[in-house]
Amino acid sequence: MRIDVVTIFPTYFEPLEMSLLGRARGRGLLDIRVHDLREWTHDRHRTVDDTPYGGGAGMVMKPEPWGEALDAVTVDAHDPVILFPSPAGVLFTQAMARELAGEERLVFGCGRYEGIDERVFDYAGSIGRVRLVSLGDYVLNGGEVATMAMIEAIGRLVPGVIGNPESLVEESHEDGLLEYPGFTKPSTWRGREVPSVLLSGNHGAIARWRREQQLERTRERRPDLLDGEDGDDAR
Ligand code: ADE
Repeated sequence: MRIDVVTIFPTYFEPLEMSLLGRARGRGLLDIRVHDLREWTHDRHRTVDDTPYGGGAGMVMKPEPWGEALDAVTVDAHDPVILFPSPAGVLFTQAMARELAGEERLVFGCGRYEGIDERVFDYAGSIGRVRLVSLGDYVLNGGEVATMAMIEAIGRLVPGVIGNPESLVEESHEDGLLEYPGFTKPSTWRGREVPSVLLSGNHGAIARWRREQQLERTRERRPDLLDGEDGDDAR
């Protein structure tokens, strides 16, 4: 999978050289290219923003550098998915990460300031499939941190990136429930015991206990996941 990121802060993405995704890049599974939006400006100050038409606070990112950037990074792409992180987008979910992990080409456009000139999204739609995506109901200073989170969520689902794919099956959100709690040695630590069922060797009982734990935690912490609104059938 190839991922292009367009940003005015390329150094934000240096951590992608580490750890699991860094190794996946080294092995050729992920081709992640980070581009500085200012490469596509033509004035001395490399300006990427301007005051909003109609007035109001803040600055809006100019369409011209974005148009050139999108043209350049998608020149050899066929119907890429072009993602713009935005608090005004649709919620990014594990289901979406799974879907995007099957794509050949992704482009992330990281907005800053009060956002990007709206015409850019329409233009991007003439190149590929545009998605405005939100990480959650809070406001970040720009799309960079959201893009990092999404690249990690998507990248680890690309076949081959995680050595043992079974570890993906039982994690939170994969079946619409939160993950069951994990314990390791020692069986007693600072006066706290590991639940005895886990030491019983009874695999049926362990599986039932874990399922109950999943349901209980989900009910307590994320009852919205049990409402059936989110598509995945949790029960
Ligand atoms: N940019 C600013 N806030 C954001 C959010 N909550 N999700 C995605 N991108 C953002």
